[in-house]
Amino acid sequence: MKIVKFKNLDKLSKCTADFIVNMAAGCIKTKGYFTISLCGGSSPRKLFNILTSENIDWNKVYIFWGDERFVDINDDNSNYKMTYDILLSKIDIPEENIFITPVNESTPEKTASEYEKSILDFFTKHQKLDSCKTPIFDLIMLGAGNDGHTASLFPNIPELDEKEKLIINTKSPEYAVVDDRISFTFKLINSADNIFLLLSGSDKKKIADQFLNNNTEKKIPIQYIDRSDKTQVLLDMEMFK
Ligand code: 6PG
Repeated sequence: MKIVKFKNLDKLSKCTADFIVNMAAGCIKTKGYFTISLCGGSSPRKLFNILTSENIDWNKVYIFWGDERFVDINDDNSNYKMTYDILLSKIDIPEENIFITPVNESTPEKTASEYEKSILDFFTKHQKLDSCKTPIFDLIMLGAGNDGHTASLFPNIPELDEKEKLIINTKSPEYAVVDDRISFTFKLINSADNIFLLLSGSDKKKIADQFLNNNTEKKIPIQYIDRSDKTQVLLDMEMFK
């Protein structure tokens, strides 16, 4: 696991945008496309804004979401809406490259299974994936809540150990917005070639310390993230002030 420390969120966001530009260019050069799964919340907002003016061949970039709230895509709590308002509405990317979580399905369970099917269909076509293999994203971006959750994988839920499914529906704790969530599992997250964990926010010091020291007495969800060199922890050092 690589830990990259930044003075503040502005510098973290600018440098992360550079990482993504270079990674996308490399993937597009070697295999013709780049797959990225975005995170929600507030941490990536500055980064998404910077990406609107970066030189990326969006025609060859495929965008997914590591988690989504089970609300309409026009709802202010929607991660898709946040991404559309800041990034997608400002770049020239084909609609068919954007894999919106199908929250218009009747239930969260159906949404999760439909999203898993669309992701498997995409990777089967692009990655010549055979049926038993897990899709390999070029980059999965993750944030973390001050309870140590990531994507919509919250503390003390059995789904943290999900070994079969790629996409599940979860219930958020009463302190989080929107009860019903759709989330990548760690089976899918940890299959990625690259994982970026953005850690920023004055209320995240405690979980950041536990994650970095890897105190596994009472594991928090971010401690289920693969700790090999495929994972880069992007640390906003203002958190420790
Ligand atoms: C969500 C996010 C979630 C987020 C963390 C951190 O849907 O809420 O995907 O996992 O990354 O809650 O949120 P902040 O960046 O707002 O602290």
